[in-house]
Amino acid sequence: MLMPAVELHVHLEGTFEPELIFAIAERNGMNLPYDDVEDLRRRYEFTGLQSFLDLYYENMAVLRTEQDFADLARAYLGRARAGGVHHAEVFFDIQAHTARGVPAEVALRGVSEALVASEREFGISTGLIVTFLRHLPAAAAMASLQEILRLDVPLLGVGLCSSEIGPAAPFKDVYDLAAANGLRRVAHAGEEGPAANVREVLDVLGAERVDHGIRALEDEDLVARLARERVPLTLCPLSNLRLRVVQDLADYPLRRMLDAGLVVTVNSDDPAYFGGYVEDNFRRLTEALDLSVDELAVLARNGVEAAFVDDARRGELA
Ligand code: ADE
Ligand code: ZN
Repeated sequence: MLMPAVELHVHLEGTFEPELIFAIAERNGMNLPYDDVEDLRRRYEFTGLQSFLDLYYENMAVLRTEQDFADLARAYLGRARAGGVHHAEVFFDIQAHTARGVPAEVALRGVSEALVASEREFGISTGLIVTFLRHLPAAAAMASLQEILRLDVPLLGVGLCSSEIGPAAPFKDVYDLAAANGLRRVAHAGEEGPAANVREVLDVLGAERVDHGIRALEDEDLVARLARERVPLTLCPLSNLRLRVVQDLADYPLRRMLDAGLVVTVNSDDPAYFGGYVEDNFRRLTEALDLSVDELAVLARNGVEAAFVDDARRGELA
């Protein structure tokens, strides 16, 4: 089994394991509405994206101090290293923290401290992608980006996530400002939403990678375009299974996507919630679809191609 070298779609808050949620809540003198870790885990049954997001936002509310954010990031990096990851581009929902009174600087310094030390501590190169929340007004994302740009925190890019309802177009100015500041641009689209949402983030936001994008398959012309322009899709099979985007991994349309020449990559999304880290996604997909060594090699190579790294690092990861 080939080990994944890169992870391009993982929400830091989605790596928050129940044990750490309880430990940090206790440290901060906060009570959780669950009896214990098992009681919390039993609630990880989702009917769709929103039912997951409700619990995801609730749990992250125990994160308060710089140390909390650094601990969360270090816990993920340790786990990623054990799974064979050498490069991780990590999403962070900054607005979910500032909205409940945590200063952006506190949250970002904590995360950033762990990510910057990661190469030395874990042998994993990293990049931080701040993801704006699509269910909030675009003006809030703009204010957040402007604040972040004034902080002295290394940033790789911007993304867009949360419920895929309403147009992405209002976020155009946010993406334009990000691009003008040399940031890379990705966006969730075509997860629960239709193929038209994938077109929109490409055409309006200038997204360089599409997060999920699985429903792009519903539009043949779009598939041809994604293949021709080699726009990577960061797939998350166990997420799609647990959020009922697909009903069974045996039906996962991976081979169709590979056959269409799409630059598909395999990732974990929110591994603490969806039953597996990136290597588990590779393993479960391999078992369900009987993937060949050659197919796994293409997936691994796609990840390296899709990573936002310089040529020297790409050469090391290949
Ligand atoms: N935020 C965290 N996980 C997400 C997902 N799967 N889709 C959209 N937003 C998210
Ligand atoms: Zn995601």
